Amino acid sequence: MTISLEPTRSSSQAISDDRSTSAFPDAAPAPVVDALLGNYKRAPGHFAEGDGVYLIDSEGKRYLDFVSGIAVNALGYGDPGLRAAMHSAADGLIHVSNLYATEPGEQLAAALVNKSFASKVFLCNSGAEANEGAFKFARRWARGRGDAKHEIIALRGAFHGRLFATLAATDRPSYRIPFRPLAPGLGIVERDIEDLAIALNPETVAALILEPVQGEGGVRVLDAGFVREVRALTAERDILLIFDEIQCGLGRTGTLFAYEHYGIEPDMLTLAKPIAGGLPMGAVLMTEEIAATIKPGDHGTTFGGGPFVSSIANYMVERLSDPRMLRHITENGAWFGKQLNELAQRTGRIRAVRGIGYMWGIDVMGTAAHVVSEAFNNGLLTCSAGEYTVRLLPPLVATRDELALGLGMLEEVL
Ligand SMILES: Cc1ncc(COP(=O)(O)O)c(C=O)c1O
Repeated sequence: MTISLEPTRSSSQAISDDRSTSAFPDAAPAPVVDALLGNYKRAPGHFAEGDGVYLIDSEGKRYLDFVSGIAVNALGYGDPGLRAAMHSAADGLIHVSNLYATEPGEQLAAALVNKSFASKVFLCNSGAEANEGAFKFARRWARGRGDAKHEIIALRGAFHGRLFATLAATDRPSYRIPFRPLAPGLGIVERDIEDLAIALNPETVAALILEPVQGEGGVRVLDAGFVREVRALTAERDILLIFDEIQCGLGRTGTLFAYEHYGIEPDMLTLAKPIAGGLPMGAVLMTEEIAATIKPGDHGTTFGGGPFVSSIANYMVERLSDPRMLRHITENGAWFGKQLNELAQRTGRIRAVRGIGYMWGIDVMGTAAHVVSEAFNNGLLTCSAGEYTVRLLPPLVATRDELALGLGMLEEVL
């Protein structure tokens, strides 16, 4: 039997980078686009470059980016400081394994501890992995309080990731149903203090996880009074409170951590998205009490906190905690929200405006998918958060003029 290593191609399997005419005759065969698993519904075309707050496709069309890689590209594209940090990190060690110590990860953990409520940090590779880690740490902490105390509660509208435990803590039937059974011991409760008072049984519940601003769930800023009541209730019942700040943390709401808006502190907090400037990284911040229950061997991950990615994250945390950056987000974010409300009045095409800082959702007439696709054709990138909400996540460096430009493009589409 002969096996051909040539990729098969049909005319419909268009490729953007045909290396058959390459200057490198021995180069690997051109990639066949359709070889990628079909788990994403992607917009047409290919992005080839970025410039400030713009993405540029392979035909040279520029798109004003109000998605930022879903809250990842906080500094936009081509930031000179980030680029320099990447170049200098590339001259150093890339990976050594967590069998050995390296300085950048230790420095990053120290920076996060210095700037937050936490006293220890676990570094990993993604948001879902950070939340799965937090669930394990909560269970480890609770184990000393009896085997029955192991449940994790999440809130209506929550999104915590796509792995088995994080999916069980995610309130999207269409994401969950095809993969049941999900991890046991996780449940969803209404965003209602009376319902929580019933559900939070101190004998069985180890932790409650919430997003201070629910991102995928429609950009819902949780009410400050509600969050404070949740904090009081969980503390009273010896239940850990985990804040998932994977989307809303690290400056996006105008404070380094979203919990700062509420005047309370969680017991654990998860981060990811912008933390390493577009490289994959997640982090779990925790109190000393939780950290003290974790022993060598309890948890691990091959790539977590490697020297290359941690060097970049050190740079990013420094940039994102700069008070000038946070003031810029707070002031322009408040202005942006006001403009969105005026847009709603003017057009009559928006049913609700929600958000804070550089994280906004508008409920539109018709479907969000339709507005997202029309905006794309008009050169503005937006994304949806549920069926009717269009989500706007500009790069945190976007100026007021750039925000205004996006608003104008949105108005045309609406
Ligand atoms: C609030 C929140 N938690 C968790 C996740 C999962 O992160 P990741 O996609 O890096 O696994 C996301 C991703 O969108 C998120 O927005």
